Amino acid sequence: MDEDREFLTEDRKFERKLITSRNTNIMKINYILFCLLTLLMGCKPKTSNNNREAKYSEKYRPQFHFTPEKNWINDPNGLVFYEGEYHLFYQYNPYGDKWGHMSWGHAVSKDMLHWEHLPIALEEYLDPKTNDSTMIFSGTAVVDKNNTSGLCEGKDCLVAIYTSYLHKNNTGLRQHQSLAYSNDKGRTWKRYDKNPILDIQRKDFRDPKVFWYEFQQKWVMVLVVPDLYKVQLYQSKNLLQWDLMSEFGKVGDTTKIWECPDLYQLPVENESGKSKWVLSLSGGHPAGPAFVGMQYFIGEFDGTKFISTQKEAKYIDHGKDFYAGIVYNNVNDRTVMIGWINNWTYANEVPTSTWRGGFSLPRQLSLKRKNDEYFLLQKTIAEAKSLRSEEIKDLEKFNGSSLEIELEWNGADGTILELFSNRDEKTVIAKRDNIVFVNRAGSGIVDFQSDFASNDQASIDGTNQKLSLHIFVDQSIIEVFVNDGEASITSQVFPRGENTIVIPMKENVKSIRAWELKSIWK
Ligand code: FRU
Repeated sequence: MDEDREFLTEDRKFERKLITSRNTNIMKINYILFCLLTLLMGCKPKTSNNNREAKYSEKYRPQFHFTPEKNWINDPNGLVFYEGEYHLFYQYNPYGDKWGHMSWGHAVSKDMLHWEHLPIALEEYLDPKTNDSTMIFSGTAVVDKNNTSGLCEGKDCLVAIYTSYLHKNNTGLRQHQSLAYSNDKGRTWKRYDKNPILDIQRKDFRDPKVFWYEFQQKWVMVLVVPDLYKVQLYQSKNLLQWDLMSEFGKVGDTTKIWECPDLYQLPVENESGKSKWVLSLSGGHPAGPAFVGMQYFIGEFDGTKFISTQKEAKYIDHGKDFYAGIVYNNVNDRTVMIGWINNWTYANEVPTSTWRGGFSLPRQLSLKRKNDEYFLLQKTIAEAKSLRSEEIKDLEKFNGSSLEIELEWNGADGTILELFSNRDEKTVIAKRDNIVFVNRAGSGIVDFQSDFASNDQASIDGTNQKLSLHIFVDQSIIEVFVNDGEASITSQVFPRGENTIVIPMKENVKSIRAWELKSIWK
């Protein structure tokens, strides 16, 4: 796709067992036969959650984080709330557990925690004349409330805008932006017949995020020119014609190409009534150029330009496994981000089967001011408390693998907690000076990729010598929130042992509480 991402292009080379139109027809006939059969047998249809308990019990399978039944996923796409449902679309390979054939998978939820899988929303397709394939890359979904596009059959409908990635024999030809719409709550989609809707004739130009800018009654789109480290801002009255308004870029971390931008307004928690705009994107990582991560800029948006005086990058997460996060559209009372738990450096190699990749817990975002600086706060959504079952009384005797821990540190540097701990392996959470560490170097299977074994670190404000940790452990995912969301560290681990043995270092822990968490698939 571009020089910097050649490693990805290599990884992403896929066997070309491409859907020919003949295959598609056979698939359709099979599907119809299957549906008739399931109806006759009184079973639930293919997409139901029937029997999923058995399906979600493989080693390393997260129990309260979203994963697909099988196959590869990367970025969350088109996050939108509509008629009582949170939609989660995502980059999905319907044909295997490595990157390829990118299409939009789809799930819905009433609470952003319990998901119902739905059939693929938008699938890779072939040009009948040239046989070139177009993959459905990352993008956005909005509720077209006043039918501004003219594509809604009723008063409103769902509109998706995504990058259409045209390629021939694995060589990228063009990335342009295309539109699809749904008049049945996202269950079926039609591609707009005049696609693409935005084309600047570039090989790399992608990941549109669109939102309604109430103040000027218009749609705003942010997307990236990845290899130029540039975000472009466009406006539209009808979602179909777009005009360039401004550009933002060449600041912050430019060690990696830029992807998946988003622009949203957040309240400042300790300045009543005040809010600021945040532009976030995926690109460089605080640990250097071997990894990708997410960064953000704080500033103002006047409807045309995003202006920030910030030159240095601020990073969203300090672990290796939080990428491509975007926030929900059409949720008015809070801003909620979901990210992909993986890192392009080793994403295709993580030792899971038959799925690969998952999503973070939904995180509610806000800002905090310290002296003259603002920074991001991230907390899991309040609904996450509903996952709790029994409080765990004796942690060291606990033998499950999905739990939540709240602890207060006691004031001495060193190890605070060991997770997945046994004689030969452990993940260590520690504090030294004003840095919190999540060390997975000896956590279990680490040798599937040379950079995986790492000790991730986040700086904390040491002024009042306080440290609280809010930790979610889910089979192979650890999400650590530090000091009420002032920093987060998200890490995958692949311990060889069966259970999450948790060992708090008593001398360094003032108080600790833990809860076993229920599976979302049962
Ligand atoms: C980010 C990304 C996007 C692209 C998608 C392709 O992880 O590279 O830029 O749209 O993944 O799957």
